[in-house]
Amino acid sequence: MQDSEHIEQLDQLDQFAQLVELVAVASAEFARINDAAQLEQAKARFLGKSGALTELLKGLGKLPADQRRSQGAAINQAKDRIEAALFERRELIKRVALDAQLAAEALDVTLPGRGRGRGGLHPAIRTLARIEQLFRSIGFEVADGPEIETDWYNFTSLNTPENHPARSMHDTFYLESSPGVNAPGVLLRTHTSPVQIRYMQAHVAQYGHLEQMPEIRIIAPGRVYRVDSDATHSPMFHQVEGLMVGENVSFADLKGVAADFLRRFFESDDLKTRFRPSFFPFTEPSAEIDVAFMSGPMEGRWLEIGGCGMVHPNVLANGGIDPERYTGFAFGMGPDRLTMLRYGIDDLRLFYDGDLRFLSQFK
Ligand code: PHE
Repeated sequence: MQDSEHIEQLDQLDQFAQLVELVAVASAEFARINDAAQLEQAKARFLGKSGALTELLKGLGKLPADQRRSQGAAINQAKDRIEAALFERRELIKRVALDAQLAAEALDVTLPGRGRGRGGLHPAIRTLARIEQLFRSIGFEVADGPEIETDWYNFTSLNTPENHPARSMHDTFYLESSPGVNAPGVLLRTHTSPVQIRYMQAHVAQYGHLEQMPEIRIIAPGRVYRVDSDATHSPMFHQVEGLMVGENVSFADLKGVAADFLRRFFESDDLKTRFRPSFFPFTEPSAEIDVAFMSGPMEGRWLEIGGCGMVHPNVLANGGIDPERYTGFAFGMGPDRLTMLRYGIDDLRLFYDGDLRFLSQFK
């Protein structure tokens, strides 16, 4: 072997050693890094455009052809190993990051759920349900009618002809005729009394041909509307109409039914009921129903809770019923007033604000 050949071989051995060293240095450096961005920077130092390995590859061109091949293969092998080390580290960093994220976002599936919160009935509706239940227990049925009413059902049929001064007792919302809507004489009902006429008509249509017409005993709870708004008045409020028609129905029946209902509603025997003479066009005689508690914070104060009276003969006739043969009583109560008294609520507007702090007390 010639000396020059020998030196070449030593050179090559030296370069192989450098490559082995380079792989070791790269692997060690990768192994120290725990951050993905830093790892990519380290990659550039070895494999990038001006990285250590790339520099070596560039140097290949200067070698004689026979060395180029073996040296090139060695460099590529080193490159493969550095890339493998890089890949392994990258995967490890990713896995560690994922584990950390999973640990941080861990859900404790054993925690009890938050729940939806149960709904409840509005106090005004609770009162209506209670009233219905009490009247059903004495043989009254529950009827209803439209909230958008005609002038005839709301006033005229109830013995209140046009221009009658009693119409001004109610501040009425009238519906306007508008393009496509022809609404002469259409209004929001100001009371539940039109249900009296509607029910009598339907009753007569069903039973009028009978020798003996069955008695009418109904209540009609529902929404009514008046132009009015303050602490004790809302433009929409509730009424419960009552109607009993038959042979020999008297004012004594009215007093008994109303007084008994109120005692049961307030669950109180020391409740006084008073019938104070009054006027309604559709009843004669007419009265206001007042109640007073004989104990508690409201002791001795008379409170008006509704109107009543014997159904006027004209009203019976408008319902199709013979006023010579049948008589009846009617009443109209304000259940919102009853709710306020029963639960000690002093502002009616609370009913319609939808404030959960108020409503959730009635669940
Ligand atoms: N409809 C009357 C009102 O709203 C109340 C009432 C009903 C009076 C039935 C007598 C008979 O004021």
